[in-house]
Order: sequence, then C-alpha cells, then structure tokens
Amino acid sequence: MDPENAPCPMGAESAPCPMGAESAPCPMGAESAPWWTRAVVYQVYPRSFQDSDGDGIGDLGGILQRLDHLADLGVDVLWLSPIYPSPQADNGYDISDYQDVDPLFGSLAQLDELIAALHRRGMKLVMDLVVNHTSDEHPWFEESRASRTSPKRDWYWWRPPRRGMAGGDPGAEPTNWQSFFSGPMWDYDEPSGEYYLHLFDRRQPDLNWENPEVRHAVYSMMRWWLDRGVDGFRMDVINMISKDVAADGHLHDGPPLHGSALGDGSASYLCGPRIHEFLQEMHREVFAGRDAALLTVGEMPGVTVEQARLFTDPGRAEVDMVFQFEHVGLDQGSSKWDLRPLRMRDLKASLGRWQAGLADVGWNSLYWDNHDQPRAVSRFGDDSPAFRRDSATCLATLLHLHRGTPYVYQGQEIGMANYPFASVDDFRDIESVNHFGTAMVAGQDPIAVLAAMRRMSRDNARTPVQWDDTEHAGFTLGTPWLPVNPDHGEWNAAAQRKDDTSVLAHYRRLIALRHENPVVALGDFAMLLPDHEHVYAFTRTLGREVLLVVCNLSRTTYRLADLLPQALDARLVLGNLPDEDAELLRPWEARVLSTWSRPDGRARGGTHARDRSAGPRLRTDGQCPAGYTTGTGRGRERPTGTRARRTPCAARHPCS
Ligand code: NOJ
Repeated sequence: MDPENAPCPMGAESAPCPMGAESAPCPMGAESAPWWTRAVVYQVYPRSFQDSDGDGIGDLGGILQRLDHLADLGVDVLWLSPIYPSPQADNGYDISDYQDVDPLFGSLAQLDELIAALHRRGMKLVMDLVVNHTSDEHPWFEESRASRTSPKRDWYWWRPPRRGMAGGDPGAEPTNWQSFFSGPMWDYDEPSGEYYLHLFDRRQPDLNWENPEVRHAVYSMMRWWLDRGVDGFRMDVINMISKDVAADGHLHDGPPLHGSALGDGSASYLCGPRIHEFLQEMHREVFAGRDAALLTVGEMPGVTVEQARLFTDPGRAEVDMVFQFEHVGLDQGSSKWDLRPLRMRDLKASLGRWQAGLADVGWNSLYWDNHDQPRAVSRFGDDSPAFRRDSATCLATLLHLHRGTPYVYQGQEIGMANYPFASVDDFRDIESVNHFGTAMVAGQDPIAVLAAMRRMSRDNARTPVQWDDTEHAGFTLGTPWLPVNPDHGEWNAAAQRKDDTSVLAHYRRLIALRHENPVVALGDFAMLLPDHEHVYAFTRTLGREVLLVVCNLSRTTYRLADLLPQALDARLVLGNLPDEDAELLRPWEARVLSTWSRPDGRARGGTHARDRSAGPRLRTDGQCPAGYTTGTGRGRERPTGTRARRTPCAARHPCS
C-alpha cells in the first residue's frame, strides 16, 4: 500500500494520512476526524441506575426503560460498567464468567435487546473489559489454585514466600507492594504453600499476561462480544497488565510507603515493559479488519502525557483514547484519603499540559465524575443550595469545552451530590470498608477517617439515580441496595426535564454544541490566565473561528474588563446564568463566547450580543431555526417562568 494513502487505523471514518514514520500523526481536519472526537459518552453503573424487578438493585431491564433519557440528552455512547456473572465483591469488577450476564442484572437476551435498542436510536454500547484480574471464583482461578501442577497454574501470579520466611508470616509476601484496596498485594494459599498476586482485593487475582494462552483466551472473548454487536470496550486498569518480571521470575520490591510496613510497587506494574506490545497484539487480534466504528478506551491510572501519546497515536494501533487520573489526584496528598485543597493553578497546569501534549497526536477522555470518584459538584463545585446548580453547570461547561471526549456519569447531568453518610455502617464499597478496617488496626482516629471517607468514598457516586421525588426516587419499588440521597425531592430528573434553566438542560446544550460545532471537537486549545486563583479561561481555535471560554470557579464576582477585555466584544454562544450584565463575571458563571479572527490573523469581536445584525433570532419557542445553533444568544438560560428573548443564533459551521 502506498504509505501516503494508508488509512488511519483507528476510527472507521478517519481520512487517509501519511504513515511513513511509525508515529506520524494523523492530522485531524473537521471532515476526517474519527467519529468519537465529536461524541459524548454516558456511563451507566448498572446496580444504581434503574431497578426493574423490585430487588433494589439496578438491572438491564431498568436501563432499557430509561433509554429515552439518554436519547434526550443526546449522548452517543453508553459505557456499561460490568454486568457479567460475579460474586460482586467489587460490584462486578470481579468477574467469574466473561461471556454471560449475571442474573442479578438480567440475561444475555436482554443485553442483545439493549444493543439493538441503542443502535436503533443511533447510540453505541461500550462494555467494561476487566482483564487485569478475574474473580477468585472464575473457573480459571479455581483450576489454577487447585494444585501447583495445574495446567492453569501459570495463568495467575503464584510465588513462594520470601526467601527464609514461612508462608503467612508478616512480611513473608514475595514483594512489599501495598494493594489499592489496603493491605498487601499477596494472599497466602495454605494448601499449595504459595502466594497469589492481587493488585486490588484478595478476591481479584491478577491474570498473568506473560502467558500467551491467557492473552489469546481474552482476545477470543473480546471477539465474541464484538460479533454479538457491541461497539467497543472501556478497558479497566489496562496499563497494569504488564508486570516488570525478571528473567528468573523475580518481582521487585518498591520504595517503602510513609507510615506503612508496605511499599509502592507501581514501578513494576504501571505501563510495564510489554504493555505496548500487548495492546498492539490485542489490536491485531481483536479489532483489525473490522469495519465497524468501534471505540477503545484505556483506563490508565498513573499514565503520563508522554506515555498517553504512544498509547493513542493512531499510527501505533493500541487504543483510541486514554482515561487518565492526574486532575482527580490534585486534591490529595499521600493517598486519596489525605485530602488537600485543590489549587486552581495546579488544575490549569495539569489539564493544560494534557491539552498541549495530545494536541498533534493522540486523544484524551474528559471527566470529573465516575463510579470511582465522589460527586464533582460536592468536590470541585459548591453544593450549597445557592450555588449547586450554577457550579454544576460551570464545571460541566469547563470540561465539555476542552479538546477530548467528554464522559457524563449517571446523575451528573442532574447535579447529583455526595451522600450525607452518618456512620461507617452506611458504606458498602470494598475500598472504603477495607480502608476503615486497616486504619483502625493502625490506630488512626475513627472520626478523622470517617470524615475523609464521607468526602472521598466511591459510594458517593453509587447512590441510586434520582429520577423523581417519590420515596426511592423512582429507582426501585423495593429497598435500594444503597440509600437514595435525601435531597432527591428537589434534585431529580423529572423536575429538571421541565425546567429550561436546569442542570439537565445545560448538559443537553453542551452536548449539542459539540455535535454541531467542529471547533468544540477539534479546535486548538490555549490556556489563558494560568495563575488566576478563581477564573479558568481558554480559547479553542479552528480556522478563523475562536471560542473564548471563561469560567468563574468561585463565589467572587469579577469584572471581565479587568481579566479578559476581548470577552466584552464577543458574541455569547452558551452561558450558564441568565443574561444580566455582560461586564460582570458572576459567582460560578461560565460563558462560551465567539470571537472571530480576521483574515489578517487578528482577533475581531464577533457579533456582539446586542448587535442586531447577527443571524436569525430565537423563535418564540426559544429554539433557533434549522441550520443554526440552538442555545445561542443571551437569552439561552432564563429563570423559570420568564419568556425566551428574541436573541441571535449562530450559523452551524462558521469555520467552513
Ligand atoms: C478500576 C475500576 O474503575 C474500579 O471500580 C475497580 O474497583 C478497579 N479498577 C478494579 O477492577
């Protein structure tokens, strides 16, 4: 094949690009960019989404009932957290059968129904792929642990006790690595006299990817799902599958962790020596040659920008985008329970570096919330009654206007907040429960431990979705497995659906903006005001179109003229507060402004909001006419009960 015309390997709609050099970037023009650059992903954590059978646990039947909610929102992809058979030690991230559905969630037939129903609505289904580890109840592990000579022994990481020590003795573990879920990463198996490795809970043993049989079993399972019609995978901790193992099978101790007898083994398992080889092999074995428009997302804790460029360079054929953690670690000290105030300068430096690092090659996911993070409106926003709606919409605007693929986690689109946990007995999450136990053994202050759990526990994200103001928020007719947040009387989807100023309405507009305006998907990013402690501002530029995004992440009011005079002469594309004073940037206000650049390259104020020569006006129903972007103009978000103003709309593709 002529290398000049070799297609970009990932993304069915990508255009030809030069492939001479191994990592030659594919230029992303508005016409040739992969479909997922303009897509928005919605994550469903099935046990908390919608229950259809009254057992208090969400299920596939429930998801099928709520597809209109996703269609209304306008999302393109549903990422489904695990629904496979599982003992549920880690809510399904401990899989005991990769090719079935747990009866708790429904059946394979219902999953087929879900695939078909999504496809009918023009949406895709991305499955969670958890192959760094299995459940200890997976038949592969049961066979592996059966004896030292089992044909599957080498499918997992088995090692003898540390030299000179007896199995089970403190410190006899083969390495000193501390588990993500507290305690050592090794569990002693008395009958066989060896330890097995588990980066997470002891019920989640790590698969040994060094063994080609393991890899090929995984690839075959993945092909089976693609053949069934799924559209890709979100790959759980996929940058941990390659471990740094010496030729003699030895694994290395890590540096000691402060205040612990254990060490940090991450150098041995984060982006290990064979990770790129494994992902390229997976790509060849599973994805190559399929012409469907698929999506692969690598969840990669600890990945650096430089590594992410390699993982997502289309020319290398590994994954489409990474899901990285740097920005959600900025409010933490030695561990996630050691909370620090988030400094705006750090957030800008981090997100800005990721924007710059993946500007010419590679792709990133954009998220605040997911099933592992506390609710962003409580963590980075202001969930007090006065500012909850405004801070939720401000954070959303900031994120969705970056370059990358935005992820909406269930409930985020209605501003769901952290749960008011009263005692340790209220928590269900294995990470939180293990942490509390270990902290008590270590003699830590239970009040302080509980305070940190209240703010950071993953259970904050896992309370049931608040659909309406009825007893269990419309989530179940039974008893919910985790209590519904008592604020659901006020904060629920049904109420917000009727309110054009709601968080939900704002998400709808943000998603539409990405679909309609190529500068949102593909524009270059430039950070402004990098040192300002409250105002987060940047531009996105594509061709002659420049968007200026200004977000005030505080309760302080600023004068725009003092910060960004160019904003005063720009046209409002989307904002989160009612139109009042263009010169003031109010608490938690976010504005997306359009400033066109002149052919000579100098910025020109676009159509000023009050300039009557702008495009057509909003219709009386508040919508723009066909071919024009809705949600534009100063009247886009009105206090409930007020009428839409006849304000200008923007042409859909002004850069073309
Ligand atoms: C990352 C997942 O997002 C998390 O929920 C899970 O506990 C760990 N991986 C282990 O699978």
